[in-house]
Amino acid sequence: MTRGGLAAKVQDARLWSRLMALAAIGGTAKGGVCRLALTAEDGAARVRLADWATARGFTVSEDAIGNIYVRREGTDPTLPPVMTGSHLDTQPTGGKFDGVYGVLAGFEVLEALEDAGVQTRRAIEVVGWMNEEGARFQPGCMGSGVFAGAMPLEAMRAVADKTGATVGASIDALPTVGATRDFGFPVHAYVEAHIEQGPRLEAAGDTIGIVTGIQGARWFAVEITGSEAHAGTTPRAQRKDALMAALDGIQALRAVMTDPDDQVRFTVGRMEVGPGSPNTVPGRVFFTIDFRHPDAATVQRLGDVVAPTLRAAAGPCGISITETFTGPPVAFDPLVIEAVTDATKALGYKHHALPSGANHDAKFLARVCPTGMIFIPCLGGVSHNEAESATPEDCAAGARVLAETLLALAQ
Ligand code: GLV
Ligand code: MN
Ligand code: MN
Repeated sequence: MTRGGLAAKVQDARLWSRLMALAAIGGTAKGGVCRLALTAEDGAARVRLADWATARGFTVSEDAIGNIYVRREGTDPTLPPVMTGSHLDTQPTGGKFDGVYGVLAGFEVLEALEDAGVQTRRAIEVVGWMNEEGARFQPGCMGSGVFAGAMPLEAMRAVADKTGATVGASIDALPTVGATRDFGFPVHAYVEAHIEQGPRLEAAGDTIGIVTGIQGARWFAVEITGSEAHAGTTPRAQRKDALMAALDGIQALRAVMTDPDDQVRFTVGRMEVGPGSPNTVPGRVFFTIDFRHPDAATVQRLGDVVAPTLRAAAGPCGISITETFTGPPVAFDPLVIEAVTDATKALGYKHHALPSGANHDAKFLARVCPTGMIFIPCLGGVSHNEAESATPEDCAAGARVLAETLLALAQ
């Protein structure tokens, strides 16, 4: 097939209608999506994808950590497949594109191949990685982390959400969508398409971002234990106020985590205060820290400051700090970067190279095979927000670049 021939088979309207169909599963009143990992909504999205796949003659399988695979066979089934995909789960106030776009852009490529009657030498598999977001179960990128051998299966299956429901039990409760499959099989190359989730492509007026790598991230879960006491009678010297200790620690960290060139990312995204009564001094506080930076040495150095700073601020309270995610910066493979660049140039899209500020499953796949990513713009760079928005044209453009990239890698 000539260069661009497969891209021409990508159907904008078909991809868009699938995006909107999945956006309705867990759709919110404000136009976003709440489809937390391993909920009934996540299960329904998996069933819908599997139905579409089997209707087109593709094979669906799933593994013990809840990853779902859609395979279009190659002429040599013994060769490691080329893989693409992303995730079906969303943030609690998520949008219509984060994750699901990469899965459906990959699925559109399989359909385009089918419509064109093209045989590839290697199979191409579209994967939906389980719990990329880390919103319900921490850490995120759990499916890809286990697949790549970076996270132990049993420990991840034992992780519980706020209500005590475990990953393992929640996976077992999902509707079955395909045959069971071992994870960790050899992969020839992995390419993930995603919205940029930042403002750079839009600002440059470019359609395609050729992603060079992903910045480093470290997550922490912090529990501070004070002592419940009467709010009206207990003098300051007698208080063990877990919330005040948490606020002092976070404030001290905020000073450390603020840099002049605004590269450090420091977020406390979840906090629970117990017992949660207006007139009882808080005896327990739980909160999370998400810290990121592009430079490996800084990720190490500033991440190592978190525990001592919080301990120093805890005063009379007890404190326990657990690092729940450690992801050093990753540089993508020149082979995949070149394949994406060639495809983008051949199709004539305006583009530039850029690193990813967000985490992606590609970070873990990069440990086991040549890996790269394709970004498309999103409105105002807004993501992890119900207002997240991308155009049908840009979604199709990313799928066209993905199509030509996967075709080149699968021959
Ligand atoms: C994924 O959504 C991330 O945490 O960057
Ligand atoms: Mn994502
Ligand atoms: Mn996300």
